[in-house]
Amino acid sequence: MTMPKTISALLTGAALGLVASGMALAAEDFPPLAPLPDTPPIPMDNPQSEAKVQLGKMLFWDPRLGGDASTACVSCHNPDQGWAFGDALSRGYPGTVHWRNSQTVINAAFLGKQFWAGAAKSLEKQAPSAAKGAVAGNGENDVMEARLAFIPEYRKRFREVFGPGYPRIDDAWRAIAAFERTLIVNDTPVDRYLRGDKSALSEQQLRGMALFNGKAGCIQCHNGPLASDEKYYNLGVPPAERWEEDGLAQITFRYEQYAKGVTQEIYRKIKDDAGLYYRTKLPEDMGKFRTPALRYTLYTAPYMHNGAFWDLEEVVQFYNAGGGENEFTDGTMAANKTPLLKPLGLSDDEVADLVAFLEGFSGDELRVEAPTLPPYGPLDDN
Ligand code: HEC
Ligand code: HEC
Repeated sequence: MTMPKTISALLTGAALGLVASGMALAAEDFPPLAPLPDTPPIPMDNPQSEAKVQLGKMLFWDPRLGGDASTACVSCHNPDQGWAFGDALSRGYPGTVHWRNSQTVINAAFLGKQFWAGAAKSLEKQAPSAAKGAVAGNGENDVMEARLAFIPEYRKRFREVFGPGYPRIDDAWRAIAAFERTLIVNDTPVDRYLRGDKSALSEQQLRGMALFNGKAGCIQCHNGPLASDEKYYNLGVPPAERWEEDGLAQITFRYEQYAKGVTQEIYRKIKDDAGLYYRTKLPEDMGKFRTPALRYTLYTAPYMHNGAFWDLEEVVQFYNAGGGENEFTDGTMAANKTPLLKPLGLSDDEVADLVAFLEGFSGDELRVEAPTLPPYGPLDDN
């Protein structure tokens, strides 16, 4: 049975009251942080196999799954840049810049919603929108499928994994998703601590964890095994400067407003990314983004949907100030700032403790050997 809206609102209100009245935050009101399991959920219609994972890995590296065969998944999810892209806004399809920060694919297999505004419900659905999106891969299904058919090694591998016939593009997404389900990092100091190794976190990190669960209130949204509740909030992250300063970024920004179907009035006025609003068209969703996982973040700077902050200390200082302001907090477009953020009054030492704890979510970098990509060949066999 689902809870009537008013009751759940009251419950959230009660939790809010706790924070607002300055009482000790009851960490038990939220799912506790937990170690990340070894295997993510595997959908019934896409079981894992070693051959499928190997094929998916090749396809993740293969720029021929894109428009002009120059932009592979790995171009924006680079293992040397945290399996993300180390700039505020991601690189885009040649001739464009992307309008959002590239997210890491590490542990994405555990997320129930992909993308900053949760636009895709599974990795199988996420991959085509990445490969086809105009400012990402800009690929066309038939062309990509034909390319795969003209690569003998892929013909062989697709048959081994998916059965007779030529490679089908939907199976390419399935293979990529299977590969992503192997990109798991769960041997971090935080995981080891939560599994019972009490020496895995330093004294400073333990102080940071207490702040995370208490005074700093991070646990309200960053909870459970991923340190994300996968809900949507507007924190008042400041808009990306590049949308004002850089022509190419402006073009993408305008294009996205148009592509996502905002009204003419909003198209003329809006200067910032409205996030969840594009999907729901509800004014109360303007400026809201899905709480990201905090795992692997040591390697994925800069942070937030538009890369507004360059290191974890800057992020913590942002929260310490009670979040920020944008045109969805000041009433220009909306006034949706989450009431869960309040100035925290953390001292410099406490900020450093919290940063040290956040670093404990990352562990060692995941490195894999890049695959050798097979060449084109004639379509000679059946
Ligand atoms: C041109 C750059 C670019 C390319 C190419 C690209 N991505 Fe992305 N990826 C991004 C950006 C930027 C985001 C965040 C976009 C958003 O939320 O709107 C993202 C988000 C994701 C996410 C969501 C992670 C999360 O935490 O929700 C996954 C998974 C992902 N990409 C996988 C892929 C795969 C698989 C491919 C290849 C088929 C791919 N990407 C190609 C830039 C790119
Ligand atoms: C009200 C819910 C909420 C609370 C409380 C909260 N966060 Fe967040 N956090 C979010 C959301 C939502 C984002 C993404 C916002 C965006 O991009 O606009 C985010 C982003 C982040 C990021 C950037 C991650 C990335 O991959 O870019 C870090 C780091 C972070 N939060 C740490 C913290 C810490 C530390 C605290 C406590 C001081 C905290 N958060 C409190 C919801 C919350």
